[in-house]
Amino acid sequence: MTTAAELWARLDNLPRPTLGELFSTQRDGGEGGSEPGNDERVANLSGRIELDEGGILFDWSKTHLDSAVISAFKDLAETMNFAEMRKKLFAGEIVNPTEGRAADHGTLRGTGDEAKVEEAMALIDRMGMLVEAIHQGALGEIEHLIHIGIGGSALGPALGVDALSRDLSYCDVHVVSNIDGVALEEAFARCDPAKTLIAVASKTFTTIETMTNAESALKWLSDNGVSDPGGRVIALTANPEGAVEWGVDETRILPFQESVGGRYSIWSSIGFPIAMAVGMDDFRAFLAGAKAVDAHFRDTDISDNLVVRAAFADLYYARVRGCQTRAVFAYDERLGLFPDYLQQLEMESNGKRVTVDMQPVDGPTAPITWGGVGTDAQHAVFQLLHQGTHLVPVDFIASIAPGDDLDPAHHRILLMNCFAQGAALMAGKKGDDPARNYPGDRPSATILCDDLDAATLGALIAFHEHRTFANAVLLGINPFDQFGVELGKQMAKAIEQGGERFDASTEALLQAAGLSQ
Ligand code: F6P
Repeated sequence: MTTAAELWARLDNLPRPTLGELFSTQRDGGEGGSEPGNDERVANLSGRIELDEGGILFDWSKTHLDSAVISAFKDLAETMNFAEMRKKLFAGEIVNPTEGRAADHGTLRGTGDEAKVEEAMALIDRMGMLVEAIHQGALGEIEHLIHIGIGGSALGPALGVDALSRDLSYCDVHVVSNIDGVALEEAFARCDPAKTLIAVASKTFTTIETMTNAESALKWLSDNGVSDPGGRVIALTANPEGAVEWGVDETRILPFQESVGGRYSIWSSIGFPIAMAVGMDDFRAFLAGAKAVDAHFRDTDISDNLVVRAAFADLYYARVRGCQTRAVFAYDERLGLFPDYLQQLEMESNGKRVTVDMQPVDGPTAPITWGGVGTDAQHAVFQLLHQGTHLVPVDFIASIAPGDDLDPAHHRILLMNCFAQGAALMAGKKGDDPARNYPGDRPSATILCDDLDAATLGALIAFHEHRTFANAVLLGINPFDQFGVELGKQMAKAIEQGGERFDASTEALLQAAGLSQ
């Protein structure tokens, strides 16, 4: 079988038609032309994933994927045992060898090994019962929830609450992650302590930022007349023993499985604040949307697999075209936090430098994920995308149905701008004046949702989880560990404990801040 290195070399040496050439009708059925023309190209490189209601269109036609590139990537998928790895993921086998763990986030939405799914569904039901009991007043009059967590224990809840609870919220949720007390104080200022619940979300229940913030939240309750602050805490964790030790009553601990990674945990009890805000029916719809994407990713042949196709394009740009970044622009205010969410998912998963066999990788792995919301970003960073010297593959995400009830002009202008940007990046425009010249041939993909409801958000997140996994398999790396974050934590601890000397710059900073021991 051809080796991965040979396939990357093949990809490097393929002809590089421009997007204009790939779209050119002249190639359509022309002599020897192997590439489809306009309509056929769009049909071949876009497809829908259907949800219970509505669905999502994934259009990858404005990328440089062509039949030769796709064929080389399909060979790479074979070399990298892609089908086998995908099977292992869904069978609950160990796909995180450095930590000896499976990656069971799919089970929480009903996908995977039967016994594991059963266990996961029991955990979701337990959360559902608590959410419904709280909504019915079991813990008194609760109007506010301060959700304390960081990284994967905060980014998903913040995104879910922001995206889904603008029109209707059963509970006013504040997600606090930063150890900077300014963040927690801001939440305190917006909540009535007598009507506030605290969710402490931490897979490990040891993360210093979260535990420190949780202590301060308890003190705030007690300082403000709440007689039993501990009775207002809900723990969301894969370490229930740790939560008990910290003082949380077992009845208010919502556990999840150790085999669910932090950045993949939104489906678990870490999603509690989303369920508190939108209700369990919508939370279950969110899980169902993700399950539809699981089915597509698991059961669709590589040729038609929309997730795998996205991963092919990602790797083509990162490895073959040397793109160091990938941008995501949500043309939907409700998805303003989606780029932040993707940053952790993609960069913490695939920002790696060794393969699963502990060999150094022989090329770039994850690009830097960044982005923002349209149309705001057009007036801030799009200059670089159109005329800068970097080639940045862009994803546009939009919803056909509006999220507002104002004059339809708002949504029409939003969508027209989104589509215009993709067209402009691709077409460019030649002019005599170099300053007004647009090179074009700049790739983009468009993810167009029928509507942005709970199921659609679940589907969008699951699509990106699997896209991240597919990238990792094709690169031969483990997307489920994150040892890179440990060193800084150890150094911070060493500074706190004192007695260790650091470099001169760090010592001087510690001294300037009055922190040297
Ligand atoms: O430091 C990184 C990290 O471990 C993330 O992977 C994780 O999402 C975050 O910290 C929070 O961890 P925990 O949920 O255990 O508090």
